[in-house]
Amino acid sequence: MTIHAPAYVKNPKLVAWVHEMAALCKPDTVYWCDGSDEEYNRLCQQLVDAGTFKKLNPAKRPNSFLACSDPTDVARVEDRTYICSEKKENAGPTNNWMAPAEMRTTLQPLFDGCMKGRTMYVIPFSMGPMGSHIAHVGIELSDSPYVAVSQKIMTRMGKAVYDVIGTDGAFVPCVHTVGSPLAAGQADVKWPCNTTKYIVHYPETREIWSYGSGYGGNALLGKKCFALRIASNMGRDQGWLAEHMLILGVTNPQGKKYHVAAAFPSACGKTNFSMLVPPEGFDGWKVTTIGDDIAWIKPHSDGKLYAINPEAGYFGVAPGTNFHTNPNCMASLDKNVIYTNVALTDDGDVWWEGMEKDTGKLPDHLIDWQGKDWTPAIAKETGAKAAHPNARFTVAATNNPALDHQWDDADGVAIDAFIFGGRRSTTVPLVTEARNWTEGVYMAATMGSETTAAAAGQQGVVRRDPFAMLPFMGYNMSDYFQHWLDMGDKLKAGGAKVPSIYCVNWFRKGDDGKFVWPGYGENMRVLKWMIDRIEGQAHGKENVFGVSPTYEEINWTGLNFTADQFNTVTSIDKAAWVAELKLHEELFTQLAYHLPAEMTSTKAALAARLEA
Ligand code: OXD
Ligand code: MN
Repeated sequence: MTIHAPAYVKNPKLVAWVHEMAALCKPDTVYWCDGSDEEYNRLCQQLVDAGTFKKLNPAKRPNSFLACSDPTDVARVEDRTYICSEKKENAGPTNNWMAPAEMRTTLQPLFDGCMKGRTMYVIPFSMGPMGSHIAHVGIELSDSPYVAVSQKIMTRMGKAVYDVIGTDGAFVPCVHTVGSPLAAGQADVKWPCNTTKYIVHYPETREIWSYGSGYGGNALLGKKCFALRIASNMGRDQGWLAEHMLILGVTNPQGKKYHVAAAFPSACGKTNFSMLVPPEGFDGWKVTTIGDDIAWIKPHSDGKLYAINPEAGYFGVAPGTNFHTNPNCMASLDKNVIYTNVALTDDGDVWWEGMEKDTGKLPDHLIDWQGKDWTPAIAKETGAKAAHPNARFTVAATNNPALDHQWDDADGVAIDAFIFGGRRSTTVPLVTEARNWTEGVYMAATMGSETTAAAAGQQGVVRRDPFAMLPFMGYNMSDYFQHWLDMGDKLKAGGAKVPSIYCVNWFRKGDDGKFVWPGYGENMRVLKWMIDRIEGQAHGKENVFGVSPTYEEINWTGLNFTADQFNTVTSIDKAAWVAELKLHEELFTQLAYHLPAEMTSTKAALAARLEA
């Protein structure tokens, strides 16, 4: 097989690496993606011809496709995800670890010939605006055309990346295979994958190797693997932050704009929050999206933190999305979308659970994500979901009507506040401001959340998810807490105002088991209180672990939310907090190696206030 690198690829190391990987994986052909629209359309048509894509009705969803995955390949596989640092302590107790040499020996026979009968796509991409000093580039080699077209949407993908790399620039090498070689003449399946899966990171050499899955974060290696796990290592070494955070802009009626970065675990409504539509009572306020999932944040010479969204698209959870929960998202999804694992309507459109809230009724008939007939009667009898709970849309950021005009700004936006939130039906109040940076780091470090379908495994149990980074942390978690504390010291030394830190919980339930806080657009009321705090216009009241709003400090115009209901979502139950602190203790025991002393002292102060 010959590998003709295009003339515009001028980096000998890169070309040598592609040769080496092709010799190992043994694809039939190597295809160098240029990122053009013509190429995107051609590959989509190829996916339609192969049966992987179904073209949706162009009258309903122009230029959009539906892919349905193998039922065993529907989510990130956290138990198959490894951080292979030289030393086990550097991966830390929250990551799977194997010595790099041993992992290389394990992967070698799996990758040997893994792409036989397939094409290896060479996919150049930039995480962040091309050429931005906050951005970094990668090259993904993949035998999945689904990955190639998805990367065109999710990243700045194309040949301009080679100009950034030049003759000797750095790039993160990412190798991905579905792990399903084809023998001569063997027919392919619609969604090739392998029951064996490995999602492997070598932090010291900044490499990613992914085997056996074609789905989401397992396969689109720019996202969780690069932009969080590898980038967190780069950030630690280079003095910046790679975070599992949305970034939004909020502009008040006077035209003053603030920027907020918010961390929530997977499937806790980050996309919804980043596209929030201000409700009644907020005339003249505007919320705009910079990013919905990941933020790269660097300190600037003015002493402030500046954030970019390294991604260029949204890979969001479809079920639950509707015009009530997220009208801007629904508007983004009307054309040029790749859907995965949603249901197909009889007129060639898509459907997922939650859409009935818009239409007032369930569809009479669908083809579910596994290709089976679905009717309301079948659903009632068997509980079958039409769309998989982790079904996704892949769409360009530029489809979003609420896109911030600075979303692609190479310098990023200055962050005024950080928000950390989990999904907790009890204990954690609606909103609390940390009294200082250390207390904020403590809040983020001890965050817990009830698990969702974004990862394979048990759902609905509370797990500690520090900074919403548990599945995405590329090194030892306690060292990461220290990195945050050090960042605070550095900012304070610079003299600029340090961003405020808030802890929120939209998910508290009442005695009837129902959510009390209406959520979605109403979260604007909480956001406005935060801004009032930043402007020194709200006093709040102090409680055991920070500062919370009084009922009177929130703008309730247009919402019937009583003081009693407010009390239900903000009250602090001492017994629950005593139990909660035991769980913090358990976490700290697990993270004892290199745990910053500030974490235990903050906890002791909290316990003392609770007892007082
Ligand atoms: C995601 C996730 O897909 O966090 O963003 O799982
Ligand atoms: Mn995420």
